[in-house]
Amino acid sequence: MKPPAFLSLLVLMLQGAVSLPEEERGSREGQLGGEGDSNTALRLGDRVLANLSHYDEPVDSEDQLPKVKGTSLASSTGMSSAQSTRAPGTALSSPTVARPTVLGLPAPPISHGLPTCLVCVCLGSSVYCDDIDLESIPPLPQTTAYLYARFNRISRIRAGDFRGLTKLKRIDLSSNVISSIEDNALCLLPALKGLILPENQLAALPALPAGIEVLDVRRNRLQSSGIQPEAFRALEKLQFLYLADNLLDSIPRPLPLSLRSLHLQNNLIETMQRDTFCDPEEHKHTRRRLEDIRLDGNPINLSLFASAYFCLPRLPVGRFT
Ligand SMILES: *[C@@H]1O[C@H](CO)[C@@H](O)[C@H](O)[C@H]1NC(C)=O
Ligand SMILES: *[C@@H]1O[C@H](CO)[C@@H](O)[C@H](O)[C@H]1NC(C)=O
Repeated sequence: MKPPAFLSLLVLMLQGAVSLPEEERGSREGQLGGEGDSNTALRLGDRVLANLSHYDEPVDSEDQLPKVKGTSLASSTGMSSAQSTRAPGTALSSPTVARPTVLGLPAPPISHGLPTCLVCVCLGSSVYCDDIDLESIPPLPQTTAYLYARFNRISRIRAGDFRGLTKLKRIDLSSNVISSIEDNALCLLPALKGLILPENQLAALPALPAGIEVLDVRRNRLQSSGIQPEAFRALEKLQFLYLADNLLDSIPRPLPLSLRSLHLQNNLIETMQRDTFCDPEEHKHTRRRLEDIRLDGNPINLSLFASAYFCLPRLPVGRFT
């Protein structure tokens, strides 16, 4: 019995070691707006914040922070060691500030070359910039795979913000004030799988990259006119489409067969087409994967569209009376 027990322990440890972003994502679901997870992430990051030698970012000559070398991880609080590495000219506005902040720096601090990994926490291929009053996306290391910039004041995503970041897999900008995303800001990112934008002010969706698997735009101001016709048709990897709590008055069509969850609760949907989910001409047509359709909180009477569900493994959730 001993060898198998040992092996499964080893597997558990290995999974724990490599799956940080996935766990992080799991814990975020359902507690959006709570800051528990972001604090955890930052605390995690603080411990290694001392090691700032990972990214050789181009640095403007004079006004920069000193090179930080060989700072020990042994200091009991990561932050105090990180603070001690700041140059006097860029000192934090208050010694009681709990983590790196751009407050107190001359504006606009980040776009002028202050290395992002001093303002944010860079941890492996993850960049954590939660809750630091960012107003725009900072320049990111080429190696960035996961970006977390939640609870900031970012209002706009510009075409160049993510240019050339070929490794970027997940962008989480929950709880900002984003109202516009420029064309081409996202659709050219070859590795992007997760675009997490709940609690912003988007009225329209940007063009999306073909590899996207999760799109979360809950709690925005999305209108049906802000979704291009056939916006999702070509997204053959799309599995989770979260559009709850918006101003949509129709169900976007066509939906890719890859889709597993479609959340549209709390919108303004009154009607649907016969072919929204199923092909009425093809009675063998099935959508086995689409098990989770939420239409509750809409004015639609789902009983009126009885012939629209035959290909689904499960009826949509919503009002049938
Ligand atoms: C800091 O990072 C460098 C480069 O990745 C690495 O060689 C070094 O061991 C790290 N130092 C600590 C204290 O983790
Ligand atoms: C919903 O549709 C069903 C089937 O046509 C009908 O019996 C029911 O009265 C409708 N409910 C409302 C509130 O209109």
